Amino acid sequence: MEVFKELYLDKNSPQPLYMQLADQIKRLIEENKIQRGFKLPPVRRLAELLDVNNTTVANAYRFLESHGYVRTKIGSGTYVADLAKKDDDIMDQIKLLDRGQLVMAPGTINFASATPSPELFPVEDFKTIINEVLDRDGGIAFSYQESKGFRPLRESISEFLLLYGIKAKPEDIQVISGGQQGIDILSKAMLNYGDYVFVESPTYNGAIAAFKSRGANIVGIPLRKNGIDLEILEANLKNKRPAFIYVMPGFQNPTGYCYSDENKLRLLDIANKYDIYILEDDYLNDLAYSGEDIKPIKSYDDNGRVIYLKSFSKIFMPGLRLAFLALPEKINSEVIAAKHITDISTVGLTQRAFDLFLRKGLWKKNLEYIKKIYSNQMSYVCKKLESIKGIQFEKPSGGLYIWIGLPEGYSSVKLYAMCLKRGVLIAPGNIFYPNYEEDNHFRLSFAALSYQEIDRGIDILSDAIGELMENRTEEKIMPLI
Ligand SMILES: Cc1ncc(COP(=O)(O)O)c(C=O)c1O
Repeated sequence: MEVFKELYLDKNSPQPLYMQLADQIKRLIEENKIQRGFKLPPVRRLAELLDVNNTTVANAYRFLESHGYVRTKIGSGTYVADLAKKDDDIMDQIKLLDRGQLVMAPGTINFASATPSPELFPVEDFKTIINEVLDRDGGIAFSYQESKGFRPLRESISEFLLLYGIKAKPEDIQVISGGQQGIDILSKAMLNYGDYVFVESPTYNGAIAAFKSRGANIVGIPLRKNGIDLEILEANLKNKRPAFIYVMPGFQNPTGYCYSDENKLRLLDIANKYDIYILEDDYLNDLAYSGEDIKPIKSYDDNGRVIYLKSFSKIFMPGLRLAFLALPEKINSEVIAAKHITDISTVGLTQRAFDLFLRKGLWKKNLEYIKKIYSNQMSYVCKKLESIKGIQFEKPSGGLYIWIGLPEGYSSVKLYAMCLKRGVLIAPGNIFYPNYEEDNHFRLSFAALSYQEIDRGIDILSDAIGELMENRTEEKIMPLI
């Protein structure tokens, strides 16, 4: 305990107390003043000693744990970890990132998140609409809704879908609490333990997690720049029949690639031929900066082959937790059952407000506004990235992600660790594969960042890449005998 008496927390500092504490314990570990296996004081005792809340100490310990400095043994306490093993622990940290549990130091520049910046939310319009709903519906707005969704909203969605060339009756629309819930309830409704699901490789990590939670066998089909590799898909279909194939044809996550129309049509033909469903995740089609219309596969679907999932998180307000499914009739009732088991219904007030938002056309106005902002940001980031030597990327024509390649043999996991040490978070390529397969790519998003943060973040990224390359060159020269 002696060594902890030296710690000093400044309650007037802008740096949160838990971070001050984490920094100081980190220093004790790095300077070897406390060594591997050393048991940290219990939370309550250290809190008393430093005259702070228990939460401050608990948060500092959590932060240190998520960065590999300490290990918590349940029922025993918190111990200094083996720093020599810290590099191996990067994977544990990446898994925390993947599960949305990484504790970030304040001030970290987060290129891993595509959460839209709150300044872009149409708060004033929404305020007016919420009041209108409350004046109109009173307490009914807070009662349980039909599990399928508020009927007038399903009608306005059905109308709205005509703009995308999709004909879906209100009965075929299922309102859901976010796109992630859509993937989850479809997994509940359609997957049994051991069933196959085909995905693009790489693919959205949240979908991998949902499919894994049902015990599915996930088969990755390589993604090319113009869409999924149809030859490899067909070869796999010869001996495996998946419950569905999960795809993102517009500005795919993580690559930003778009399917060609030909690829979409051929994929649909293949799905018809082998009698499988396509789960089409449209989370970003609307963010096409060059003005082109991205036609969903669903708009070509005459046979009830495509389950269409549309989220409003990236193009509206993620905290509303609002999305919908346009379903083939055959699976309608299984999906309502899964939705009912999950949360009975999506929040009624949100559904009613969003219904008015669509009906009044405010949706379009907001979309045009955010498109302009994101399009400028995308150009700005890509321009800056061009100055970094050794990386490869193509500027996407829309969306929020840039997929960046390091030269063959370089690890994006190493780069992730180097960037994090410098206060920059990137998404390493391996989280987009079912078994965290190594990939020399990483994903960058800019949606949550200011121009200043982008400038600073890319400078830091550039330094880290420079250092990665230098180290690697030495490694390469040595074994060439
Ligand atoms: C491809 C894709 N689908 C679905 C989701 C889930 O979105 P939400 O649940 O916020 O609607 C995300 C979130 O990043 C995503 O990238």
